[in-house]
Amino acid sequence: MAMAMAMASSLFVFTYLLCFVPLGTEAGGSITSLVSKELFNAIFLHKDDNACPAKDFYTYDSFIRAARRFPRFGSTGCLTTQKREIAAFLAQISHETTGGWATAPDGPYAWGLCFKEEVSPQSDYCDSTNKEWPCYPGKSYKGRGPIQLSWNYNYGPAGKALGFDGLRNPEVVANNSLIAFNTALWFWMTEQKPKPSCHSVMVGKYVPTKADLAANRTAGFGLVTNIINGGLECGIPSDGRVNDRIGYFQRYAKLFNVDTGPNLDCQNQKSF
Ligand SMILES: *[C@@H]1O[C@H](CO)[C@@H](O)[C@H](O)[C@H]1NC(C)=O
Ligand SMILES: *[C@@H]1O[C@H](CO)[C@@H](O)[C@H](O)[C@H]1NC(C)=O
Repeated sequence: MAMAMAMASSLFVFTYLLCFVPLGTEAGGSITSLVSKELFNAIFLHKDDNACPAKDFYTYDSFIRAARRFPRFGSTGCLTTQKREIAAFLAQISHETTGGWATAPDGPYAWGLCFKEEVSPQSDYCDSTNKEWPCYPGKSYKGRGPIQLSWNYNYGPAGKALGFDGLRNPEVVANNSLIAFNTALWFWMTEQKPKPSCHSVMVGKYVPTKADLAANRTAGFGLVTNIINGGLECGIPSDGRVNDRIGYFQRYAKLFNVDTGPNLDCQNQKSF
């Protein structure tokens, strides 16, 4: 069983890397050729509608500036891999901020980046057992920005890496569009053990541990969903939230003219 999984997963890594002439990591600049302003606007058809609380917040320029801060994003592996990674990132942030519904204009997957902060948080997302990143009194670490950064143990290290005080000033993630995109890309690019980074999964660099193999955590878009919110969404047959993420990814992969790759869902995966 574990053997078969290992073989399936190295086959997957192999097919991911098998894309002719790898372009390697390129200097900043190519992100604008992979994601033109026109493509960005075609992806996020309704983000600046009056109906969206994030109207005019998530700008193309902020996305590009944030992407340039993380030069390996969208520049690793061959062109197909680069585009697939970007499509997967944009799909995940779209689900996190979606304003779509089943019969929405242009369909449910044309409404990414509609929200900048969680509307009815269940709590302040303070893990008081975490001593490294202690909560500041009265602050809420609810979901904010494209990836809906949550919890003190994410706000703290994100702020440290990006140059803002995530524990004392978490609100800035919903007030500053560049910082907002920076937090989403920081989360995407940063390994937080025992989880791999979303980036490593989408570019074929993820190497599963024995525990990963036993938990069916095979590379693909479904594993990225597991990294982002697996505790609530994975290991459940046909979860609506997982399917919404997939729906966005399928639409965006088409717009980027790439296939989605295998293992789109995480219904047979255990969470981390
Ligand atoms: C962010 O904006 C809200 C209002 O939308 C405001 O109450 C808050 O003080 C702002 N925080 C920062 C850090 O700018
Ligand atoms: C792994 O997936 C198979 C189906 O492909 C399932 O039967 C099994 O229960 C899964 N294992 C775990 C740990 O979820």
